[in-house]
Amino acid sequence: MSVSEEKDRHEELIQALADYDHAYHVLAQPKVPDAEYDRLFSELKALEKFHPAWVRPDSPTQRVGAPLPEGSKFPRVEHAAPMISLESLFSMDEVEAFHERVLKGLDGEGGEAPNYACEPKWDGVSASLVYEEGLLVRAVSRGDGSVGEDITPNLKAVGGVPLRLRGQAPALLEVRGEVLMPISSFDSLNEALVGADEKPFANPRNATAGTLKRLDPAPAAKRGLRIFVYELARLEGMTEPPTHSKSLDALMEWGFPVSPWVEVVDGPKGVAAFYAAMEAKRGEADFEMDGVVAKVDQKGLRDLLGSRARTPRWACALKFAPREEMTRLLKIEIQVGRTGRLTPRAHLEPVKIGGVVVRHATLHNARYLRELDVRIGDTVTVRRAGDVIPQVMGPVPEKRDGSEKPFQWPGKCPACSSAVAGKGELQFCPNLDCPAQARRRLQHFVSRGALRVEGLGEKAVELFSDAGLLSSLDSLFDLDWNAVAALEGWGEKSVQALREQVEKAKEADWPRFLFALGIPGVGPETARALCVPFPNLDSMREAAGGDKAEQKFTEVEGIGPEVAASLISFFREPRNLEVLDRMVAAGVSPLPSKSLASGGPLEGSTFVLTGTLSLSRGEVKEKIENAGGKVTSTVSKKTTFLVAGAHAGSKLEKATALGVEVLDEKGLGLLLGEDSP
Ligand code: IVH
Repeated sequence: MSVSEEKDRHEELIQALADYDHAYHVLAQPKVPDAEYDRLFSELKALEKFHPAWVRPDSPTQRVGAPLPEGSKFPRVEHAAPMISLESLFSMDEVEAFHERVLKGLDGEGGEAPNYACEPKWDGVSASLVYEEGLLVRAVSRGDGSVGEDITPNLKAVGGVPLRLRGQAPALLEVRGEVLMPISSFDSLNEALVGADEKPFANPRNATAGTLKRLDPAPAAKRGLRIFVYELARLEGMTEPPTHSKSLDALMEWGFPVSPWVEVVDGPKGVAAFYAAMEAKRGEADFEMDGVVAKVDQKGLRDLLGSRARTPRWACALKFAPREEMTRLLKIEIQVGRTGRLTPRAHLEPVKIGGVVVRHATLHNARYLRELDVRIGDTVTVRRAGDVIPQVMGPVPEKRDGSEKPFQWPGKCPACSSAVAGKGELQFCPNLDCPAQARRRLQHFVSRGALRVEGLGEKAVELFSDAGLLSSLDSLFDLDWNAVAALEGWGEKSVQALREQVEKAKEADWPRFLFALGIPGVGPETARALCVPFPNLDSMREAAGGDKAEQKFTEVEGIGPEVAASLISFFREPRNLEVLDRMVAAGVSPLPSKSLASGGPLEGSTFVLTGTLSLSRGEVKEKIENAGGKVTSTVSKKTTFLVAGAHAGSKLEKATALGVEVLDEKGLGLLLGEDSP
């Protein structure tokens, strides 16, 4: 390639990658496979390495730049327009009163009645982005509202933030939005922190704030931070749209991720309906919401109403019921995990949080427990967020009366009395034969995400173990069915159904089987990745037992030395190998994953799921993926099928409007070649 051809290619790559980023993060409709993206990205990096002068601030290679040097601080920047906040309301009566104040404030001026643009109130960290001639030049944290910190490198690493605006760019644009950590990333981050015996974050918001405070932008990218922009703050060189909702449309055109649920209504009733709809979505979204925001839509009316010192008169936030409550800590139980880890679990006086009765909550680890200084009998605050396991946030010391008892960390395993071993602050039971560990391993082995042996839930595993019918993993395939039939609550039908399930489990998908073994660090994703180069149990055993095992494992994308070590020690432990041999002898032979085989009947089709389906979303998604299809979350022209269950809402409308084919579950079942889905 000549230099001028290289320059053209450089430009072409920047544009293509920016387009793919937008499709991936904003439209949730990836245009190319990850591998193709990575290939183009490497090509761009190579070109820029050769021609360093070509590196531009909007090149995708600049998303995760170099960390700021240790000890430095983010520069402080004054906001051109202050970042004010919102008046919080807690009842519909207050919304009525807010509406009255708006009407009174307008006093018939403005010539029209106010409409309200309703949006979710995302519970993250706000930031302001400044674009000059279409190029992102600065990203600033809220700070005290007047002065914030320049956190441009971190914001560039946030998924969906355009480095350059799409389409026709104004001379200057400043937008405000909320940076969020997906609840799923938050869960895995906390799991990793707890695993390393570090302090977990209390909620996704704190985790986001903690990530954005880092001088190194890499964690912002790695932890999957996202943004939803919600206000156009300044615009120069172009006429401002007359309404907020039109501004959001313009922001979308420029390539920003905007909240998927925005609705313009004409009064408090409409706000109430939107609130109810969002409350229902609260458990479904992968981002935390703490209420809804209602904003006067017409900019002219906003100007007439103006702002108070800290909050505008034209907007309000109607908050959801908090997901935090107080209750009494009755006792602390030490649970033994499947890897022997000891985890303190709080037994609580039952308390309703966000509509669910909570009886137990996690206290994470010994260090967390000690640092909180919670005592038995304390009144504690308990938080439930999204799908996250409830956690004890801390004691309420003012409520103490002196009768509370400090908790003594045990020196022995509560299940087998082995002396507790400590690896740093980590506490675990070192006994491989510990019955509590065996139970947990079994519970995991048969669980829905693993071998999915229906009918053998956690309670049943307890029952079978107590009766001496289940011990190690292989005992599942050597059950004494007469003894099972003699157990209380196990009639002929349920025994027969379980027998069939156990037979089916013998031919589980290989990645599922690998995940089911419960090897520390091997989650479902890692298992899938491993099953590509190691397509069956034998190849895996051979790799782990042979030369250069670590190298072979770390060559797999996403596998580091720790997981490699964990695999090696699992597959070299003679007792584990005996268990595996016994399983094979009993007829267990995991099948190569269907999902890894290309050419499935649904290959090339993109699905969106909506409404209530008879199976969980995760299960339907898996079926589609196993048949080679793809599942995304937003309907667009590229969607092949919308699978609609009962109470399907806006997605169904959108699909119909776009002419996307709509299927019910039966229809999906037909595509999958099943009799019933
Ligand atoms: S508008 C002048 N819209 O809530 C209007 N804020 O207490 C400024 N937030 O600092 C805010 N979702 O961090 C607006 N859809 C939304 C929002 C939102 C979340 C946050 C934002 C702000 C705080 C207000």
